[in-house]
Amino acid sequence: MQVFAILPAAGIGTRMAASQPKQFLELHGLPILVHSLRAFAAVPRVAAIYVAVRRNEIERVEAQIAEFSNQFSFAGRIHVVEGGDSRQESVANALAALPSQDNDIVLVHDAVRPLIDTATIERTIDAVVEHGAAIVGLPAIDTVKQVERTAHGALITATIPREFVVLAQTPQGFRCGILRRAFAEAAADGFVGTDEASVVERAGLPVAVVPGSQVNLKITQPGDLALAEFYLQRQAQ
Ligand code: C5P
Repeated sequence: MQVFAILPAAGIGTRMAASQPKQFLELHGLPILVHSLRAFAAVPRVAAIYVAVRRNEIERVEAQIAEFSNQFSFAGRIHVVEGGDSRQESVANALAALPSQDNDIVLVHDAVRPLIDTATIERTIDAVVEHGAAIVGLPAIDTVKQVERTAHGALITATIPREFVVLAQTPQGFRCGILRRAFAEAAADGFVGTDEASVVERAGLPVAVVPGSQVNLKITQPGDLALAEFYLQRQAQ
């Protein structure tokens, strides 16, 4: 059994309103994408990493991988594939390129979560071995409301007991056969989810949850950069 990682990095990051996609912005002296690649390359069980990027970024990413190859054990372990118009399409392209068997494991991780740590990656792999599918989820701290959007703004329709809620993070891991079958069903039905677990849940398969952390934040808005920089500086001390 082999473990592969897919890092979708083909987004354009409109919410960041930066001059370039957020995965290429620098944090603590390294591009965000390189932080994420480094975290997975640091796990010996991860055999290879497939990163999906926009066609016009392929050369740039290959150059970055070469630049950090010796420093972070990237050599021969990272492959670049072309992304698609949705995150799901980017992941599907990488999945098609994996030289994997059904029994192998694939971990999908947002390229823009640079603070993922080795222990969480290891825990996710262990949970996939046990359950077939597992994601990292952050327990809800705030009270959770369901709302409907009206012309006058949002109106609450229900309070969801927070013990029943986790916020889905990544990595999200699966036996390759499970993810491939679920993706094929979603493609046939035209379903596009915002994460891989939703595609697998839809296929009626159980997905386990391992504990996440607020540190594993997804860089989305400008304020997230300062927070991530703070966490990285703290880790370096
Ligand atoms: O847009 P969002 O923040 O949900 O993106 C999550 C991850 O999916 C990012 O790493 C982004 O680069 C990636 N993505 C992708 N292809 C797309 C859209 C997003 O690989 N078409």
